[in-house]
Amino acid sequence: KSIDVVVVGSSIIDLISYTQRQPKPGETIKGSKFCKGFGGKGANQCVMARYMGAECVMVSKLGKDDFGNEYMKNFKDIGMITDYVKQTAEASTATAAITVSEDGQNCIVIVTGACDLISEADLQAAESVIQKSKVMICQLEINVNISLFAMKMAKKHGVKTIFNSAPAECDIDPEFYTVCDIFCANETEAEILTGLNVVSLDDGKKAVTALLDKGCSTVILTFGEHGSLYATAKDRNIVHVPSFPVVPVDTTGAGDAFLGSLAYYVACRPDISILEAIKRSNRVAAITVQYPGTQLSYKKRNELPKELFE
Ligand code: RIB
Ligand code: NA
Repeated sequence: KSIDVVVVGSSIIDLISYTQRQPKPGETIKGSKFCKGFGGKGANQCVMARYMGAECVMVSKLGKDDFGNEYMKNFKDIGMITDYVKQTAEASTATAAITVSEDGQNCIVIVTGACDLISEADLQAAESVIQKSKVMICQLEINVNISLFAMKMAKKHGVKTIFNSAPAECDIDPEFYTVCDIFCANETEAEILTGLNVVSLDDGKKAVTALLDKGCSTVILTFGEHGSLYATAKDRNIVHVPSFPVVPVDTTGAGDAFLGSLAYYVACRPDISILEAIKRSNRVAAITVQYPGTQLSYKKRNELPKELFE
């Protein structure tokens, strides 16, 4: 069986508190609501691609604990291939403590636990399915060397690679820029990676150029309500793709929804242009910010606008 999208990445249990505003250091504030959900950038992207209709494989690691068992069940319920999601007794399932304030913005602390134990051996075990996949997505919530190893393996087999530089904390191995076919960053990551200030759209354009200079062949910079910027090394013409204006309720996981649907289009809809794929993926992401939760806010294909699949 051929696979559309393989994601090598994190699976994290999201513990989300809704508050009026973000707390300050040393401060205790009262929240209005709590919810627990399935998250992790890797898993979120994989789930969105699956909801869009892609055949998906997740390569990840969970703890041998209640959270891990729950997560495994979630993957199975969604119809994902879970042969390469392992459970380990050596670490706990990863968690994310998230606060979402009334303006829809979030602050997140992740403890990556079992995700850090995804190994080269795990990837070697998955090599036969990776080889059969059309697109691979990697992020930075697992050991970064493993993400790089995975993309090199994908490259070797002619699998298209999408790299999402989230969450970047410092500049990354220069090989990341050249190994991927599509490099996707948000404005915060672009600042960290390029050392530039990225506030206005013009700043964003400079950052895109800087990322092309680092050797990326295609760059997508997502820019929240500004939409996104797109450019290729071929013509270096930077295109602005506007976003869909919505009132945000909870933006957590919106970036991942964008990446998951982008991977779906690249893998399953080679007939539509990358620009059109970005436009449609922006729309998918905009829908998720109108609902609370991470994967909880993702809509399935039959709940999404029909035009997205024309
Ligand atoms: O991008 C959103 C995700 O970031 C959340 O699901 C949380 O788990 C963190 O990894
Ligand atoms: Na959401």
